[in-house]
Amino acid sequence: MRVTLTSRKALGTAAVLSIALGATACGGARSAGGGDGPQTIRFSHVVAAETPKGQAAEKFAEVVDENCGDELTVEVYPNSELYGDEDELQALQSGAVQMLAPASAKFTTIAPQLQVLDLPFLFDSVDDIPDIVSPDTAVGQAIYENQELADRNIQVLGLWDNGLKQLSSNTEMTQPSDLGGQRFRIQPSDVLQGQFDQWGAATTPLAFAEVYNALQQGVIDGQENPYSNIESQNMHTVQEHITESNHGYIGYVQTINTDFFESLSSELQDCVTTASDEAATYNREVAADLNDEAKQTIIDADTTEITELTPEQRQAFKDSVVPSVWEDYADVIGQDLVDELLANEQG
Ligand code: LMR
Repeated sequence: MRVTLTSRKALGTAAVLSIALGATACGGARSAGGGDGPQTIRFSHVVAAETPKGQAAEKFAEVVDENCGDELTVEVYPNSELYGDEDELQALQSGAVQMLAPASAKFTTIAPQLQVLDLPFLFDSVDDIPDIVSPDTAVGQAIYENQELADRNIQVLGLWDNGLKQLSSNTEMTQPSDLGGQRFRIQPSDVLQGQFDQWGAATTPLAFAEVYNALQQGVIDGQENPYSNIESQNMHTVQEHITESNHGYIGYVQTINTDFFESLSSELQDCVTTASDEAATYNREVAADLNDEAKQTIIDADTTEITELTPEQRQAFKDSVVPSVWEDYADVIGQDLVDELLANEQG
């Protein structure tokens, strides 16, 4: 059986509370499935179903449904409907949900090394992503073999892409100094704060679900995200300018509660792993197209002027943060890893 799109509203507050409390009371691992019967993977995420992460989550549920028999069910909860940025990692560790795919920046407090994926201009184009993040690279090892996640009962299953981030605000931004004095929403990452510091902008960490309202009410002036997130949250309707800077990456670490995973039979574990691999492949197939479609929707809406940076303008943004921001955070990301990335950059 496959269940998707059950909303917080449809469930009702009492039901959501009972999910969370029930899971905690049972100690987590087998709580969602309820004893020895069929097991349920509750998969919570914060973005819209039509985005690269939303589509990969649906694909994962579909493959489990087709291949894993009646003993395993996946319920996908998009749009922060069950848990949001502020509580989803706690929910994963306690077993209130079994699976998440947060952006790397969301792990900053529990696994700071994952901020390697937040380094500005780590990728020049989406074509560079697979080679740099594959499990056998230094970056891949920092993610797939992350001990801090393992210590917190979190197992990494894969890495999904959204794509590269663009800058939005109500003023045109063609050079770093254009951001000076503006306030940008950031994900909770020190590296991202360092990036905006270099550009002279103030920062406010906010949960993803709060960004649209904060932009609309003028609490913040701008934000950074791939087109698919900007369009699906209607941010473009309250932002007059987007700079196509492709300056950073939003990648998702697909994670499962380790106790839950290990409570599954080895056949079901294999089935989950295979479904994750298929979802990752599917994600890479669709992510770029979904961002292109979202960009076109924004163009058609005619609310927002999109400025594509010239190579020289993009280089000026890059020079303002590389290598300075990379070096500033080498102590959290790992000096060896940063040195290797800088050597590749220069090579
Ligand atoms: C954000 O908070 O801007 C993104 O990480 C949301 C997401 O999951 O893509």
